[in-house]
Amino acid sequence: MTTLDTVILNADVATATERFVADIGIAEGRIAAIGAFEHSAATVIDAGGRLVTPGGVDAHCHLDQPMGDGAVLADDFASGTVSAAHGGTTTVIPFACQMKGETVRAAVDDYHRRAGNKPVIDYAFHLIIADPTADVLDNELPALIGEGYTHFKIYMTYDDLKLKDREILDLLALAKREGALPMIHAENDDCIAWLTDILEEAGKIAPRFHADARPPVIEREAAHRAISLAELVDTPVLIVHVSGKAAMAQIREAQARGIRIYAETCPQYLFLTADDLAAPGFEGAKCICSPPPRSVEDQRHIWRGLRTGVFQVFSSDHAPFSFDDPRGKKNAGDNASFRVVPNGVPGIETRMPLLMSEGVLKNRIDVHRFVSLTSTGPAKMYGLYPRKGSIAPGADADLVIWDTDADLTLDNAMLHHNVDYTPYAGMRLSAWPKTVLSRGEVVIDDGECIAEAGRGQFLRSESPATVQPMYIRYD
Ligand code: URP
Ligand code: ZN
Ligand code: ZN
Repeated sequence: MTTLDTVILNADVATATERFVADIGIAEGRIAAIGAFEHSAATVIDAGGRLVTPGGVDAHCHLDQPMGDGAVLADDFASGTVSAAHGGTTTVIPFACQMKGETVRAAVDDYHRRAGNKPVIDYAFHLIIADPTADVLDNELPALIGEGYTHFKIYMTYDDLKLKDREILDLLALAKREGALPMIHAENDDCIAWLTDILEEAGKIAPRFHADARPPVIEREAAHRAISLAELVDTPVLIVHVSGKAAMAQIREAQARGIRIYAETCPQYLFLTADDLAAPGFEGAKCICSPPPRSVEDQRHIWRGLRTGVFQVFSSDHAPFSFDDPRGKKNAGDNASFRVVPNGVPGIETRMPLLMSEGVLKNRIDVHRFVSLTSTGPAKMYGLYPRKGSIAPGADADLVIWDTDADLTLDNAMLHHNVDYTPYAGMRLSAWPKTVLSRGEVVIDDGECIAEAGRGQFLRSESPATVQPMYIRYD
């Protein structure tokens, strides 16, 4: 007889590779038994044959991140993690962002203060390196990587964040030496600035021109350059928020040559198009994000990339700026040029239900791919596996029990983020998390968050397996 804290009975378990019906035993926050076993447990949850998957790892979201332009993100570590949990996510990885002139350590310390006793689910940090000084390269970053910050983002655009190719090379060489994974925002900044000037001179400042200022070719060029720099240094990188066919083709071509280029995409590139930026008045600002949503054909290519393994990670890129808010989308005024509208869309709660409903239940991807993209893949990519991302003995008992017979129409009022809109309003979904457990504790119980603020734990990331040296050559 096994003594357990909690048992989940009759679960239709799906992992990235397996599917089986079993009971799941949990002790001290971890999975202790799977299968059919004698037990006594304080808490018994009958899954009733429902689908059970590992809790999601949202490996790209922005919570309480200070912005250079005075805009304010609507979600902090409280509302952001509550909203994430409702959507089946049990780990988030937001960004500790170094500002130019600031140390990376100051950004990390400040971000821990911001998290404070707010998170209801576990969290790790990515770093953003905006000022790779000699001290950052020689001292700070190697020390931080050793302390569990093993992944950092590099921007090729945005005035206060962008790095020169030479600086990127220095950071890639450091990542190779220290066993870290660089994530790259790939858009050609000079092309964006040149196109933006031309559009503004012609009076074309409405939200829809955001897409014209950032066409696929500028993302394709930057993706190609990022891949070339990684190839030169001979170290893996992950290209974040890939929007369509052109950039994806660069990644697929590099992968086919055996180069370790990883890639992430997001819901906005499956469910929005550039037409959404052309909504009447300033409404299109709700869908301004970078890279911008593309075409229906691009959406098809992104689905194909999810199916065929071009992408390892499906994240929300939750960047929650409220629409009707002078510190949100209207930070520069309510008819400002697209150039100064804060970039990003909300989506931390809808990420997993959208992919389950539109992907798995509509047979665009199978459930194993779903688990891999939303949980196992990001956990592996960022050094959190096997603690996170799996249903296996010893893993954290982060679990989602799904209702896959739901019939709901998405509406902002049903979501728990602090944003005044969802770009997916009106979509009909057939899947939603019913019960969510984090380290064995029920955090979402039939649609209600019962988790205590501050119960979320900070996770130190290991050096990811995905960047370890490979000794097999394919050429
Ligand atoms: O538009 C976006 N993606 N905003 C969030 C910041 C970023 O570049 O990921
Ligand atoms: Zn980005
Ligand atoms: Zn982002």
